[in-house]
Amino acid sequence: MLGERFPSDSFPICRIETDRWHSTFSQSQQAQATGVLEAGGLILLPRLAFQISDYERPCLMPQCVRQGSKHVSFDPRTGAMRGATRQVQRAKSLQPLLQRYAEQAAALVRSLFAYDVRSLEVARTSFRPFETSDRISSWRKDDRRLHVDAFPSSPNQGRRLLRVFSNVNPEGRERVWNVGEPFEAVARRFLPTIARRWPGQARLLYALRITRSLRTEYDQIMLQIHDGMKADDSYQASVASTQLSFPAGSTWVLQTDAVSHAALSGQFMFEQTFLLPVDRMQDPSRSPLRILERLAGRRLA
Ligand code: SIN
Ligand code: FE
Repeated sequence: MLGERFPSDSFPICRIETDRWHSTFSQSQQAQATGVLEAGGLILLPRLAFQISDYERPCLMPQCVRQGSKHVSFDPRTGAMRGATRQVQRAKSLQPLLQRYAEQAAALVRSLFAYDVRSLEVARTSFRPFETSDRISSWRKDDRRLHVDAFPSSPNQGRRLLRVFSNVNPEGRERVWNVGEPFEAVARRFLPTIARRWPGQARLLYALRITRSLRTEYDQIMLQIHDGMKADDSYQASVASTQLSFPAGSTWVLQTDAVSHAALSGQFMFEQTFLLPVDRMQDPSRSPLRILERLAGRRLA
């Protein structure tokens, strides 16, 4: 069921041929998938589709997103939805889909990886119905440029970002990504360009409600790496990358805080985010937090 392959240069991909969200994996399969994930690779499930019924299909349209939002986001813990038009909010047509995606993605990661179920925190779900080139207001928000994920208002304080993506394009179109160099190479390149923060900055941002929790020095560095990568035209043009295409009806899983990625084309996707404490990893030394701490020579979170 599991197979590892290295399509070009050395980007690790673990391919799993299941078509069920509730699968059972052996301990050795879990260890292998977890190893590829933590090595900065990707788990590809080419036949694992997020099923949408004919009855639900009409709500999959870009018009369900409110003006000014990039996607619809959902909190599976509270059922709250953001970024949808008032009409969609009232019709309650999208919530059941987002809820089901969150549940199926959780079932997958709990069975596939060698992590204690209680250590995986379920974060946001999103539905992204726009063509990847639409609604880009600035280079900072342009996910067509290689970047690692870091979120200005939601500091993760060192925890890993584990994300599940499913291409649900109804016309059978693939989603195309580029993946770039390993995190340590990114960190070595951008860490020297990063400004130290001033005392009291994290508390001020929190007090002003710009962040939902305290922005650690780790979060601040990750944001600057995210911005530095996207803003650097010559880096974007010259860094080695591998193009991957995800067919309609497929699912893929990776840690987007460490895997440099860019979405080149595609439309209609669901995504679920999980947070994982660094000390619950099989090998914490591979986390962006520990790599940055090693390079900086001090604790960052
Ligand atoms: C992202 O950059 O995290 C989003 C990728 C995508 O839209 O496919
Ligand atoms: Fe991203």
